[in-house]
Amino acid sequence: MKALRNDSSIKKLARGGAAVAAGILVPLLILVVLNTDSLPQLTRLRETSITQVSDFFISIRPKTSNQVQYHGGTKENVVHKVYSSSDVAAPRSKLSCSVTRAGMDICAMEGDVRVHGKSATVYVVAASHDSYRPENGTVSILPYARKTDGGTKVTIRLSAPVVTADNIIPPRCTVTHDVPAVVFSTTCCYSKNFFHATDDTIIPLYNTAREYDGHVQLLVTDYDHMLMFKLRHFLAALSIYPVIDFNADDTVRCFPLVRIGLERHEELRINPALSRKGYTMKNFRDFLRLAYSLKHAWATPMHQSSSQRPRLVMVLRRGSRVITNEAEAIATATEVGFELVAAGPEMVQDMATFAHVVNSCNVMMGVHGAGLTNLVFLPNNATFMQIIPWGEIKEIGWNEPSFIGHGAPGFRPVWEIFLNGQNVTLDMDRFRAVMQQIYQSATIT
Ligand SMILES: *[C@@H]1O[C@H](CO)[C@@H](O)[C@H](O)[C@H]1NC(C)=O
Ligand SMILES: *[C@@H]1O[C@H](CO)[C@@H](O)[C@H](O)[C@H]1NC(C)=O
Ligand SMILES: *[C@@H]1O[C@H](CO)[C@@H](O)[C@H](O)[C@H]1NC(C)=O
Repeated sequence: MKALRNDSSIKKLARGGAAVAAGILVPLLILVVLNTDSLPQLTRLRETSITQVSDFFISIRPKTSNQVQYHGGTKENVVHKVYSSSDVAAPRSKLSCSVTRAGMDICAMEGDVRVHGKSATVYVVAASHDSYRPENGTVSILPYARKTDGGTKVTIRLSAPVVTADNIIPPRCTVTHDVPAVVFSTTCCYSKNFFHATDDTIIPLYNTAREYDGHVQLLVTDYDHMLMFKLRHFLAALSIYPVIDFNADDTVRCFPLVRIGLERHEELRINPALSRKGYTMKNFRDFLRLAYSLKHAWATPMHQSSSQRPRLVMVLRRGSRVITNEAEAIATATEVGFELVAAGPEMVQDMATFAHVVNSCNVMMGVHGAGLTNLVFLPNNATFMQIIPWGEIKEIGWNEPSFIGHGAPGFRPVWEIFLNGQNVTLDMDRFRAVMQQIYQSATIT
């Protein structure tokens, strides 16, 4: 929290006095100074709620007896015989899952793990001498950070090698990998929304797969081509192997270790205490700089006397939450001393290009919206300013679309009236005063 400077004098500058007329809102300016680890501070706008990592935890391990503990499950009375081939020389396989009610389902398995994408089935093979029969021997999970959004379930079948009348389970490996695999879904109606891409996929994937230092095979269910293309630089930095389209893959791939599902902790945030490797948001942003070859780790304060001006990127929305006096705002910020980068949707949508733009700036500002998620590319010590259209936003949160269409229908009208339905007209005197203050902090005399 120490990195946040939410200066009450600035709030006052931005708020008091002006009238609220139809269609013209008095915006609240929130100033956040980004520091080493301060990205999560944005979530301060919401009530903080620590996501429970697991509501319950199941762990299935081979036992020497003919049984396995599985929620008090019963022994299945299926006659089977041990499948004897060289495939049977399996190590003691292990499976553990963490299943939450609303968040993510994740399972990890190691030993002899065989993945068949096309049937969305992952086989965890127990060695013959460990043979056991858990109830039905299956666990089905949706490997997506917001499982309430639906998608293809992946079934994990835990079994001893058996031959039944019409089948050999598990199937033989067609390809054997010597690196771990991470299976996740890109199902999401919001893949074009950068907030969701970041919150649901980018951060959790970093948190799950980064530890393998590139030596990890990514398999994607409900493969979203547009999203995967958009994230190509990030994915290439995370894994040296091409991503596999899980549902289309008819190969039986064997891995020593498979993780299904991504580890997402809190909104736009990694909780180091919950991260297996203790990752922080700073680690994450360092990685992004690496992935996108971004030059600036730190924002450089400019000398006021220098001809070089501090750069300010203004994220400009179209359609809703538009700054009606945008031209005036740009002129004012320029007069104050900034070099302005006006970033419309065309510039913002090309992730790699915009990452460089943002990283080259000392200040980023804009009206509340998904485009501001690009602040992950800001250098340390940069200043971020969010304009919130109407009053306090804390009950709404800033991940707008998650309240539209699922989860909390009651928020929908609130959202539409107070946020989507409104444009913003900035009071130029107040805006100038805030700009001057930011200018002072971004420069040295
Ligand atoms: C096991 O299979 C039976 C019959 O298909 C089904 O009714 C039951 O719900 C399954 N149990 C589990 C834990 O999946
Ligand atoms: C970052 O900001 C802090 C606090 O203002 C300051 O002490 C520090 O020197 C800055 N770091 C760099 C590298 O500019
Ligand atoms: C906000 O501005 C946009 C673009 O100028 C316009 O299309 C839209 O109708 C405006 N919305 C409101 C509620 O005035």
